[in-house]
Amino acid sequence: EKVIRVGLLGAGTVGSGVIQVLEMNRRQITERVGAQIQLKTVLVRNLAKKRPQLEGYVLTDNIDDIVKDEEIDVVVELMGGLEPAREYMLKAMEHGKSVVTANKDVVAQFGKEMFAMAEKHDVDFMFEASVGGGIPIITPLKQCLTANKITEIMGIVNGTTNYMLTKMTECGSDYDEVLKEAQAKGYAEANPSADVDGLDAARKAAILASLAFNTRVELKDVSVEGITKITPDDIEYARNLGYVVKLLAVGKDSPEHGVDVRVHPVFLPKEHPLAAVNGVFNAIFVRGNAIGEAMFYGQGAGSLPTASAVVADIIDVSRDIVNDTFGRVRCTCYEQKRLCPLEE
Ligand code: NAP
Ligand code: HSE
Repeated sequence: EKVIRVGLLGAGTVGSGVIQVLEMNRRQITERVGAQIQLKTVLVRNLAKKRPQLEGYVLTDNIDDIVKDEEIDVVVELMGGLEPAREYMLKAMEHGKSVVTANKDVVAQFGKEMFAMAEKHDVDFMFEASVGGGIPIITPLKQCLTANKITEIMGIVNGTTNYMLTKMTECGSDYDEVLKEAQAKGYAEANPSADVDGLDAARKAAILASLAFNTRVELKDVSVEGITKITPDDIEYARNLGYVVKLLAVGKDSPEHGVDVRVHPVFLPKEHPLAAVNGVFNAIFVRGNAIGEAMFYGQGAGSLPTASAVVADIIDVSRDIVNDTFGRVRCTCYEQKRLCPLEE
């Protein structure tokens, strides 16, 4: 039986979830791929730290032990942050390995460089978990919806802030306390200001808009406002008027203005479908000229939901390796530019 060997970079919230899903569903994954997926080596920062979930796996603190290991076929990056994640992923592809990541920072800022490297070395670069945690949205945009001209993509794309706003609305929870809860549950970024300042949602909005509108949208092209200025009075005021406060990412493509992408808090009427998206759940609404309206809903953060998307990418890449069909879907969205300029 063929074996696909994986190198994992980072074993925190999502990395541990990936190990758990690969173990929990080993038999059915092997059947579906037609090969065994085996985690060979795990990169960690501190080899002395006790990690019971990694017992039985080979650990290293040297990236060369993974990128230069000829047996390893797939590198899964789950460290987060721009560097050294970007450098390690490029190195892995240079050594002929396909890459799977959940890293929206790198995809939003260096997506073009990543796709160019993947094409140059005829490997896959996959990032389903970078937006919406466990929700399938990247693959639907790359494949299932490509027949459409998409004019709008809008949604709740940050689990931490949606969890916070929900708790503040439903239980009157205190902002700082509920942020700590979201961190304890593993929803928040290593630096949670990326969540509350709206940057995490903006990175995701840039990725979604690039795919939906087939044009390059970078973080700097997105107008961003987070939830740090939302007060209990705002929430109460919204409630009294029949609204809820939500942090929305909105991308539009119009013939008059081009592509316009924003992230900001809004008052949503209680009857709006996105008003019912609560807690860590995310939802993404897409409007296309053939499908009409479509909505994608599910857990937007957390260990196992996010691992579900990462492992799906690992399975997809493994099938490419088994069937020798790398890079089936060429990325075309990092080329053109027809953006609406941001207001000062
Ligand atoms: P995390 O819990 O902080 O885990 C990160 C892991 O990477 C830690 O084990 C850390 O090592 C390791 N690491 C960091 N820098 C390293 C380095 N230079 N060398 C070796 N190891 C390094 O983060 P996470 O929540 O799993 O997130 C991982 C990625 O997934 C991020 O890109 C994040 O944005 C994305 N993501 C997260 C979620 C979620 O719900 N958490 C959902 C979707 C996407 P130590 O253990 O030594 O600190
Ligand atoms: N910090 C992110 C969130 C993780 O809360 O949505 C999922 O990308």
